[in-house]
Amino acid sequence: MMRVLIYNQKGGVGKTTTAVNLGAALARAGAGRVVLVDLDPQMHLSASLGLTGAAGFSVADWRAGKAGVPVDVADCPNLSVVLGHPEPADETAAAPDPDAIAADWVIYDAAPGWNPEVARVMQAADTVISPLEADFLGLNGVSRLMKRMQESGVSWDRLNLLICRYSDRLAVHREVRARLAERFGTRGLMPIVIRNSVRLAEAPGQGQTIYGHAPTSTGAADYSALARHLMPPVGTGGTKKKAGAV
Ligand SMILES: Nc1ncnc2c1ncn2[C@@H]1O[C@H](COP(=O)(O)OP(=O)(O)OP(=O)(O)O)[C@@H](O)[C@H]1O
Ligand SMILES: [Mg+2]
Repeated sequence: MMRVLIYNQKGGVGKTTTAVNLGAALARAGAGRVVLVDLDPQMHLSASLGLTGAAGFSVADWRAGKAGVPVDVADCPNLSVVLGHPEPADETAAAPDPDAIAADWVIYDAAPGWNPEVARVMQAADTVISPLEADFLGLNGVSRLMKRMQESGVSWDRLNLLICRYSDRLAVHREVRARLAERFGTRGLMPIVIRNSVRLAEAPGQGQTIYGHAPTSTGAADYSALARHLMPPVGTGGTKKKAGAV
């Protein structure tokens, strides 16, 4: 099982968009059973898939150690969701045990900010994907993120920065991307960027992944490229431990 945490303490950077559409891309690409986990009390991941108010296995059940089956996503075989819950995790509760669900990939969508649960999920994650916008504030947040990882005893080797909402036409985006590439190389910066795409912003309103809403959009192409990058090469059997590095 591959455990992927989507995290950035900064809000509105593309965490939920990445969790939903990377998950869908992996499921479509034959990566096996993909389970999305909506850790955020805002419950945006569940809402993005039209599952607001849906009954079924939630993070509250999972945190309480109950067994259950994640809710299937319509029109996307092999993709299911552990639904969100408006109550944040108890400060002292153990992180949900990924082995309690049957999955090849578990993708956690974290809330912005920081809390003890996200620290524990991060410690157990194989990879941390950190969406950010390629601007001054995005750059500024990276050192805070790295400090958090260090304080939690998580190796920086697991960090993968993912530039989202990228526009080649903006000089600031090009410059910040170049600075990140210089500092992190392909070990810490994903070689794939997610371009700014109105279709990606529209899809949650339809309760659909980008593949349901606009399968030929740049957003769909970018998340498919990201999924291919993360998947092990055909024939190797195993799973890449860290995207872009190993
Ligand atoms: N590549 C993109 N192109 C255009 N719009 C995008 C893109 N990625 C995300 N968005 C939009 O930006 C907004 C914030 O995205 P998203 O909800 O994924 O961020 P987040 O980091 O999960 O936010 P929060 O911190 O509140 O959980 C949403 O309206 C989303 O549709
Ligand atoms: Mg979110």
